[in-house]
Amino acid sequence: MSLPKRSRVLGWGASVPDLIVTNDDLSEVVETSDAWIQKRTGIKERRYVDHADGSVVMGAKAAADAIEMAGLEPSDVDAIICCTLSPDIDFPGNASLLHDRLGISPRIAFDVRNQCSGFLYALATADQFVRTGGARHVLVVGSEVHSTGLDFNGARGRDVTVLFGDGAGATVVGPSPDDEHGLLSFKLHAEGAYADKLAVFGPSGRDKPRIKPERMPPEDPYFYPTMEGRFVFKHAVEGMTSVIRAVVDEAGFQVSDIDMVLPHQANLRINQFVALQLELEERQVSNNIERYGNTTAATLPLLLTETAAAGRVSRGDLVCFAAFGAGFTWGAALYRW
Ligand code: UT7
Repeated sequence: MSLPKRSRVLGWGASVPDLIVTNDDLSEVVETSDAWIQKRTGIKERRYVDHADGSVVMGAKAAADAIEMAGLEPSDVDAIICCTLSPDIDFPGNASLLHDRLGISPRIAFDVRNQCSGFLYALATADQFVRTGGARHVLVVGSEVHSTGLDFNGARGRDVTVLFGDGAGATVVGPSPDDEHGLLSFKLHAEGAYADKLAVFGPSGRDKPRIKPERMPPEDPYFYPTMEGRFVFKHAVEGMTSVIRAVVDEAGFQVSDIDMVLPHQANLRINQFVALQLELEERQVSNNIERYGNTTAATLPLLLTETAAAGRVSRGDLVCFAAFGAGFTWGAALYRW
């Protein structure tokens, strides 16, 4: 069997909860305002799950659409990679639960825990499987439920709480029939020295016992995400700008050759700064943060699905994915549509 030179996204899909939570809705429980959130982040609303649904149910809906669009049967999927920081249960990972829910039997199933850059890391991993013959069709699912783990206690944690929403997106990655289309190159980075700049510290395996009755929400913020917002913001702008330049350069192109950038959606202002530095016009950058907030690992496949549905990418276009998040971990991928 000859191995493909490139992998390609054969199908995609997305699923978001029905419940829309506006900034005004949030202002009723958190000390914030629609004006502050819109001005500082660009977010107008986000989605929250009904508590009966977790990231597996949402991910399964997105995955079913992606498999159908790829023209495949579920049994054609050889590997599942789930990227999430909000799995349904502590272990086993979402990939095992999703595997069961979709009723398929891939040989390989595992989770990637890389927060906002999770989808990029998973896409790069899927690419390796496809190009080396380890798997022919890899289902990559990003699915997140943030709403059950945010701090809704007045002013505490409000900088983070207003940012996040729930959602899912999925892609099926498989062999490209030619050498021109598909994933051209990717670059991934990590800087663990900044792990505590954006994190959830509890529950911790370092604690004995791991769950302590005296450390429980809502009083104790131990289980809520915390972030040094300005520090993360600055690094996100620098990291995404330089990694986009690097991935384009490596593939032998110029930034001006890019037709569409699909950036992670953490803050609209981050993406505007990146666009400014790269001299990209508004039409060359796709954003949907105003409707979903930050859905971490679900962001890129959700954005991909919406951007394609809106007809904003055409065959032959040079598309650049980029993400930055907790870890810090970040990266970019260049893709010929
Ligand atoms: O997903 C992974 C990557 N994540 C990111 O990239 C996020 C990066 N960081 C950010 O997006 C921004 O730093 C935030 C949106 C989190 C914060 O925006 P900022 O412009 O950096 O504001 P700040 O943290 O410097 O706070 C400015 C003021 C403070 O009040 P004082 O001290 O000036 O009186 C905050 O207490 O805004 C206050 N504040 C809020 N006010 C209303 C912080 N959060 C809120 C809020 N509503 N939600």
